[in-house]
Amino acid sequence: MAEDLSITLGSKQEQYESLLPQIQGLLEGETDLIANLANVAAALKEQFAWFWVGFYLVKNDELVLGPFQGPVACTRIKKGRGVCGSSWQEAKTLIVPDVEKFPGHIACSSLSKSEIVIPLLKNNTVFGVLDVDSDMLNDFDETDQFHLEKIIALINL
Ligand code: SME
Repeated sequence: MAEDLSITLGSKQEQYESLLPQIQGLLEGETDLIANLANVAAALKEQFAWFWVGFYLVKNDELVLGPFQGPVACTRIKKGRGVCGSSWQEAKTLIVPDVEKFPGHIACSSLSKSEIVIPLLKNNTVFGVLDVDSDMLNDFDETDQFHLEKIIALINL
């Protein structure tokens, strides 16, 4: 696996295109889920410098905080609660341009302004989510959805 990440400047698209093969390299040959989630969170945080990047994993019918990069965060989220719990319930990616306008948004930090949550699926069942928070409004769009879903699909299960 690569030891250093090469950080790219340029459009969002270019940044994802440079990052994807590097993440592929990081995950290659490693089957430990926590190790892989930890490296994906670190690589995304390093490239994009988002406010918070991390995973929640389904445990006993709740989402429990997993590997992440950023400030300390809420540890448990119920199904259907907040953006993460809604993405889990609906089994689909949610893009929230302004978290204050999302009913039931869970504010782990008042600095978080927009958010994207991607469900992690195995055999059509959600077993966790990737949550990315930005301190800027309207920071996520379909480009992020497309590439983040691709990155998630690389994780060895
Ligand atoms: N805002 C999320 C909670 C997780 S933190 O942002 C890290 C939500 O509404 O589900």
